Amino acid sequence: MKPGSLDDQLEVAEDSEQLVHNLAEHIYDLSKLALDARGQFTISLSGGSTPKALYEYLASDYHEKLSWGSILWFIGDERCVPHDDKDSNYKMINEALFSKAPVPRSNVFATEGQDKDPKAAAAQYDSIMRQVVPARTSGFPCFDLVLLGLGPDGHTCSLFPDSPALKNQENCFVENWVEKFNAFRLTTTYPVLNAARNVIFLAAGKEKAEILNKVLNQPDAGFPAQKIHPTPGRLQWFVDKAAVAEVNTASSTR
Ligand code: 6PG
Repeated sequence: MKPGSLDDQLEVAEDSEQLVHNLAEHIYDLSKLALDARGQFTISLSGGSTPKALYEYLASDYHEKLSWGSILWFIGDERCVPHDDKDSNYKMINEALFSKAPVPRSNVFATEGQDKDPKAAAAQYDSIMRQVVPARTSGFPCFDLVLLGLGPDGHTCSLFPDSPALKNQENCFVENWVEKFNAFRLTTTYPVLNAARNVIFLAAGKEKAEILNKVLNQPDAGFPAQKIHPTPGRLQWFVDKAAVAEVNTASSTR
């Protein structure tokens, strides 16, 4: 299979439960490689509903397997609400993972003040990311793993179509005005996403089938998710059969 080809990138599971199990084991494998090579595993987590089951599964079934003390957790994007708000990505991830596993609080890096001053909160998180996550040749922080979701409009992280952050090539993490929400979001930028050793999209369910097919098979469509090309890192899509129902691929179910 040609490296970087669509078939090489797609990991197709029977259903969302198998996707979660496959991805959890892959994350465990990546963590061992990172710990052997660098003594730590840096990961940027996706928000949204799809990854919640993954986080819960890691906390339960990998409770004894993961080296929790050597994993550094970042939030890839955040809503500009307090961390106890129902829409907060940190709240979802804390409830699903951080509060259910032996995660040292000092290993969790969350935004602060995002509900009061998005610009300042983004700048502070940008600085923390640069301090904590070592850079490689790009000069940008190089995460061992970035987990991403795919929105119905082809957004990922909080990089929405026609939003200002799409053009940002100098910051790591910024506030981003999202017209359709009439609100700011905070998001990791392309330079960091594309500097990662591994970038993995999660997409499950039939509601993702149409957008996933467009993102994978209409390269000139201009969706934000199509500008994720980790170099020299690896891009993978962990999907289930329902999500790839419209995608023409020879990939087999794992
Ligand atoms: C967010 C996410 C966003 C998400 C997609 C998919 O803050 O909402 O980071 O990019 O991954 O919107 O969300 P679902 O997994 O809920 O479909």
